[in-house]
Amino acid sequence: MLLINCLLVISSALILLSTVIFCMINGIASMPSSAKVFIALEHHLPEKITGDIIEAGAGWGGMALWLAQRYPQNTICAWENAWLPFGILWIRAKYSNQKNLQVKYGSFLQQPLDSVGLIYTFLCRKGMQKVCKWIHGTPSVSLLLVSYMFSLPDTKPDKTVHLNNQLVNELLFYFYR
Ligand SMILES: C[S@@+](CC[C@H](N)C(=O)[O-])C[C@H]1O[C@@H](n2cnc3c(N)ncnc32)[C@H](O)[C@@H]1O
Repeated sequence: MLLINCLLVISSALILLSTVIFCMINGIASMPSSAKVFIALEHHLPEKITGDIIEAGAGWGGMALWLAQRYPQNTICAWENAWLPFGILWIRAKYSNQKNLQVKYGSFLQQPLDSVGLIYTFLCRKGMQKVCKWIHGTPSVSLLLVSYMFSLPDTKPDKTVHLNNQLVNELLFYFYR
């Protein structure tokens, strides 16, 4: 019994430690997008998307599942590299019955963008610098990037949706054609 308790304490401590470490590596914790984001996306996302959809840093999976329901004809690739959120995302996806949702462990930056039509991000400034290089590193992308709160460096968004009076609480739309 003592051994089981010790193992439980050690594994919980390791999981917590991994969460802190990944937060430091990624520059952001696994906070989910707020309810206001979902309401705004419902209104502002296109009816149809051509190509795959990437949830770039899917966290606990709420947005990935929502996108999978909203776009049943598209494949949703939900990438997450932090262990604990990835585990929860994987379990949620497995029991969700959303056949179009693919859960992938690792950095979303390894996914080629040739057949991608939509990317959703809720990252940080450092993360958006990486997203910028990722998109601009592919010669002819044709996609929509939607970012919650954080803008791409040196790139003016094509559309901004303010979710309340706070300046940072906004959705930024970038159209690449
Ligand atoms: C603020 S959460 C957003 C979660 C989800 N997208 C949402 O909006 O509800 C950001 C997530 O991105 C993950 N992340 C950050 N950089 C990543 C990368 N390069 N590859 C995979 N996941 C990453 C973090 O671990 C974190 O879980």
